[in-house]
This record gives sequence, structure tokens and C-alpha cells, in this order.
Amino acid sequence: MVLSQQTITVIGAGNIGRALIGGLIRGEYVMPEQLRATRRNPAMLQQLQDDFPGVRTGTDNAEAVDGASVVVLAIKPQNARQVIHEIRDAVNDETLIVSVLAGVTTAGLVDAFGRELPVVRTMPNTPMLVDEGATAIAGGVHTDEGHLAIVQRMFEAVGTVEEVPEYLMDAVTGLSGSGPAYVYMFIEALTDAGVKQGLPRPTAFRLAAQTVYGAAKLVLDTGKHPAILRDEVTTPGGTAISAVAELESHGLRTMLINAVATATQRSHELANDE
Ligand SMILES: NC(=O)c1ccc[n+]([C@@H]2O[C@H](COP(=O)([O-])OP(=O)(O)OC[C@H]3O[C@@H](n4cnc5c(N)ncnc54)[C@H](OP(=O)(O)O)[C@@H]3O)[C@@H](O)[C@H]2O)c1
Repeated sequence: MVLSQQTITVIGAGNIGRALIGGLIRGEYVMPEQLRATRRNPAMLQQLQDDFPGVRTGTDNAEAVDGASVVVLAIKPQNARQVIHEIRDAVNDETLIVSVLAGVTTAGLVDAFGRELPVVRTMPNTPMLVDEGATAIAGGVHTDEGHLAIVQRMFEAVGTVEEVPEYLMDAVTGLSGSGPAYVYMFIEALTDAGVKQGLPRPTAFRLAAQTVYGAAKLVLDTGKHPAILRDEVTTPGGTAISAVAELESHGLRTMLINAVATATQRSHELANDE
């Protein structure tokens, strides 16, 4: 198994880092003893230790990466420069660097390490907290298929994985990276819509969230085109088609296309501000 030989250090075990550790252990992708994790807050580190016995935790980043075959950078982008400065002499030339840093390129990371290290850039999303993430991965110039296979396997522990060329990472950020925010707005609006029609709010909320979840599951499980599934719920002269017509008249599709375009552009701008 591609991960059984790895020693994986997660630098910055916050939301994303912790979710990855949890998924890897729960799914038995790795033994807890193969994992190390750092962050600065000792109480939170203790919590991590209690939740995942066997994982080696600490505050010393350089010590944590010593001998690791994979190092996951899961700190915020603003902490990256300092962390890389701390660890760059402690990683060896074969260490695979896996970045979840939004807007930081593989070339920028190779540059920051000052070595020709293999770097794989990833863009996960927060549903990985419940093992239902959508993660895109892109290799840098010094990575090979073996490196990508390791990262693919790691993120499969917390959802699905798509490999893309790096130039598409801004588009991924606009679609699936930021996408949960759009879907939460949709669920919230659908809940309000139900309340307006007289449903108690908790009932409307549960119906709205489960409808989004169930519809997504039907798309994924059947592999059917969403338009076909939509046709299947729109009876001639019925309720669904009158609502579909209303959504179309307000340009739902154009609204989403423009929203993702704006987020993609913003991701590009932020990356170039660095
Ligand atoms: N959240 C998302 O939707 C999302 C999606 C895709 C990508 N990302 C990327 O994922 C990364 C992490 O995001 P997050 O939401 O998991 O943030 P987070 O919960 O704030 O996690 C970052 C962690 O880094 C730790 N940290 C900060 N400085 C450190 C240092 N010098 N040494 C060791 N640990 C340090 C922090 O813990 P202490 O304060 O205890 O040190 C914190 O636990 C970001 O780069 C973000 O761009 C996030």
C-alpha cells in the first residue's frame, strides 16, 4: 500500500490538518504511529493526542519533520514563510512537500525551500471535516507519478480527489474550494422559502439540507446528467417546472457562472499579491 511506508508530518494541525489526520486514521490508511503533528497551542495539541492516541505531537516543527517522508503544510498562508524557514534544513532532498496553502504555487514553495524538492499543491474543501471533501491536486516540476499517487491516496481518506494542471487551481478554488459557501447560502435560502410557506423553521432546515445532500448523492451514485434527473422530477404542468421557470427567469445559471468567475479571479489576484 502506497501509504504504509510513509512517515507523515502535519505542520499546523488546525481544521484541515486535523481532519486529514482523522480521516487517515479512521480509514486505516496509516497507523497513528506513522503520523506526527504540530501546532503552537499546547492545550489543543493535548486534545489531538487524546483524540488520536499514537500520533506524535509537538510544537517544534524542525524536530517533527526530521526523518519524515511526507510533510503537509497546513498552516495559514501568512505563517508559511516562518514555518518553511524553521523546517527547510531539517527536510531531506526526497521529502515530499504537500501544501494546502491557498494561492501559493509549487514554484513559490520550491523557491522558499531553496531546494529542488517534490511539491504537490492541493485545494481541499471543508466537507473533508466529515470525510466528504472534494480535493484537487497538482504536481510541481520535481514531482512524479509516485508522489501524486501518495497525495491522491492521502486525500481519498477524506473524500474524492481530482488531479488538475496547476494553472487550473484558481478555478478549483472558485468552484469547490469556495463552493461550500454557495451551497450553505442555497440551503439557508431554501429554508427561508419553506418558512415563508408556513413550515416550522427546524423542519424546513432539515428538509432543505437533506434535499441538497440527497440530490447530490443521486447525481454521484447514478452518474446521470443533472438535467436528466431534473427532467425526471418535472411533470408537465406540475409544481417543479413552474419553479424551474422562475429560477431561469432570474438567471440562476448565469449567477453561478459569474460567482465562480469572480472567485477564480480573486484567487488569482491573491496569489499574485504574495
Ligand atoms: N478552510 C478551508 O476551507 C480551506 C480550504 C482549502 C485550503 N485551506 C488552506 O488550509 C490551510 C489551513 O486552514 P485551516 O482552516 O485548517 O486553518 P486553521 O484551523 O487556522 O489551522 C492552521 C493551524 O496552523 C497552526 N499554526 C500556526 N502557526 C504555526 C506554526 N508556526 N507552527 C505550527 N503550527 C502553526 C495553528 O495552530 P496554533 O495557533 O495552535 O499554532 C492552526 O491550528 C490554509 O493555508 C488555507 O489556505 C483551507
